[in-house]
Amino acid sequence: MARHTVVTMPGDGIGMIVLPEAVRVLEAVGFDAEYVHADIGWEFWRSEGNPLPDRTLALLDRHKLGLFGAITSKPKREALAELDPALRDKGLVYFSPIVAMRQRYNLDVCIRPCRSFGGNPLNFVRQTTDGGMDEPFVDVVIFRQNTEGLYCGLEWTDPPAQVRDALATHPKFAAFAGTPGPDLAISTRVFTRNACHRIVKRAFEYAREHGYRSVTVCEKPNVLRETSGMMEEEARRVKVDFPEIALWSTNIDAQMMWLTKNPEDYGVIVAGNMFGDIVSDAFAGLVGGLGFACSGNIGDDIAVFEPTHGSAPKYAALDPHIVNPIAMILSAAMLLDHVGESAKAERIRAAVTTVVSEGRVRTYDMLKIPGGPDAFRKGAATTEAVTDAIIAKL
Ligand code: IPM
Ligand code: MG
Repeated sequence: MARHTVVTMPGDGIGMIVLPEAVRVLEAVGFDAEYVHADIGWEFWRSEGNPLPDRTLALLDRHKLGLFGAITSKPKREALAELDPALRDKGLVYFSPIVAMRQRYNLDVCIRPCRSFGGNPLNFVRQTTDGGMDEPFVDVVIFRQNTEGLYCGLEWTDPPAQVRDALATHPKFAAFAGTPGPDLAISTRVFTRNACHRIVKRAFEYAREHGYRSVTVCEKPNVLRETSGMMEEEARRVKVDFPEIALWSTNIDAQMMWLTKNPEDYGVIVAGNMFGDIVSDAFAGLVGGLGFACSGNIGDDIAVFEPTHGSAPKYAALDPHIVNPIAMILSAAMLLDHVGESAKAERIRAAVTTVVSEGRVRTYDMLKIPGGPDAFRKGAATTEAVTDAIIAKL
């Protein structure tokens, strides 16, 4: 029997294309595992009214380890319109299955490394004072609180009277008290001390273990005094046990501006759910974009690894496949780290580094040409060819 069982959840669109590529790499590197498929995504919302079916949860409960591709999420009205007519008046509400999974299993620590690969033509370059160019080496790891904040799901349009009454106990609600219910939308940002503590602690531990010299809390405590304030407070508390690591604090807006000024100065970054979502895409943009952005959603019991790109439906229909499998492959490498197979993970990362820097086999994004059926004529490699090249270097 294999040592590990990985629940594979390809999901929608290009998730179905890139996930099998990551499995091929895991097999090639000699990971002792078997794979069980699990249903997730838009198709199951439409046909069953549930994009995260119970049978999928049962598999995760059992095997504890997941690889996830991508899912399509659509706004409220469109989601309802696409639901099987037989299910339409049952009061079903679409909720992103990946967000639901993070919350159900308390996968509260999201790790998103953004590291430059040498020779990647998509790396960020910056003008130097003498008019030349320089390419800062970015090595940032974002720790995103993955279950709370603005993603907590506590939201209303036309909030019930009790909610309005409760809010009216706060003087700031006076400004909204006259707004008619249907014209009032509220999304709440909930932080708990426990979750703030956990994400900050994991960030510091990671910094220590991997030799990063700073942890930066990226929030907005000057305005979001309670929630961002709590994150900062916990960071100061945790820092005491990590004297060798500096604690910095940036505001999310300023961080977006500094992003292109001094990205090489940052090490580990920790943020709440929404700001973590933003700052991780932003840094990913400096190191090749979403085609390179990998992540792990980690709880005490269960962990799920996924590329942070979406399902890109317009590319999913193209055959041969054009999309970059590297984000998914790097996510599989993170899965290996998680189960204590870091040597294999390093072999994968080294193989990716070589393929990217040699530049002989590149998907369209790395050639900086538009994605589409024309890409091959312009020299782009297929998804599978990039995987093959990585496997050849293992
Ligand atoms: C991510 C994605 C998701 C998120 C979406 C697909 C719900 O943007 O993983 O970063 O917002 O968390
Ligand atoms: Mg995102």
